[in-house]
Amino acid sequence: MQSELRKELLDAFTNAGDSFLSGQYIADLIGCSRTAVWKHIEELRREGFELEAVRRKGYRIIRTPEKLTADEIRLGLKTKFIGKNIFYEESVESTQKIAHQLAYENVPEGTVVIAEEQISGRGRMDRKWHSPKYTGIWMSLILRPQIPLTKAPQLTLLTAVAVVQAIEEMTGLIPEIKWPNDILINGKKVTGILTELHAEADRIHSTIIGIGMNVNQKQEDFPNELQTIATSLFIEKGEVITRANLIKHIFANIEKLYFLYLDEGFFPIKLLWESYAISIGKQIRARTLTTTIEGKALGITDEGVLQLEDQHGKIHSIYSADIEL
Ligand code: BTN
Repeated sequence: MQSELRKELLDAFTNAGDSFLSGQYIADLIGCSRTAVWKHIEELRREGFELEAVRRKGYRIIRTPEKLTADEIRLGLKTKFIGKNIFYEESVESTQKIAHQLAYENVPEGTVVIAEEQISGRGRMDRKWHSPKYTGIWMSLILRPQIPLTKAPQLTLLTAVAVVQAIEEMTGLIPEIKWPNDILINGKKVTGILTELHAEADRIHSTIIGIGMNVNQKQEDFPNELQTIATSLFIEKGEVITRANLIKHIFANIEKLYFLYLDEGFFPIKLLWESYAISIGKQIRARTLTTTIEGKALGITDEGVLQLEDQHGKIHSIYSADIEL
């Protein structure tokens, strides 16, 4: 919906208060057909507006979506550096893209880009990431650890642990991690993590950690191709989750684990990660870009590389793949 039209429609609903606006009234107001009105109403519903529709009366808004603001996230945030510098955007192509630009501009470590909506959200392996307005957490965090390139995947695993702990703290739900970075609840994906780098051969300049979290989507909000594989915290918990609070938990947990990692290395993070991992010890299929390997997942190395033992006892190191259980 064009933004002017959207504004006109929302203003009309605001002015109407508790009263209903008939379909014909809306059609005349914004100069479109009754079918187009219905489509606009459906679009608002997908954005998280709750609208009541009553025959012969029309429509009224009974709940507006929870919008994020940078101030709301900052309020009560107890971290030392993560999330102290927030770039909040209403709609972007991808928060990763903006974070990459900012990383070149040398913004402070811990800077975060958050958007209400991504038009071209990116997932791993060049996939699209569905990022509808107001319902999820779409954000990219800039870190600058002094570690060699080979250790970068450890940060993805660290982030996965931080997110799982934040979900547990906020909802009581216990998510699981599917290597390397899928966070699942009841077998469906609730969060994905995409780590990208600015680096030289031996040194990382910046790490851009993208976190995509399905928070308040209803089942019908997911497109067909995601219906059976994706879920949200709202679906699993049956309650709307305040995104700003969840973000604060994620920031605090990443920071806590990051300090632990810088002090003690990857080992304590690895233990935590393994305690949440579902694939370890199981027979799995790893689809890499070039081949498919079946075998038993033995665990991860200190570099975060998955070790897979095939039926001949040969151990394969898997750096990047899709895992089927
Ligand atoms: C995955 O494929 O599982 C990773 C998904 C990562 C999505 C997040 S949403 C915020 C950030 N911006 C993007 O375009 N992608 C990441």
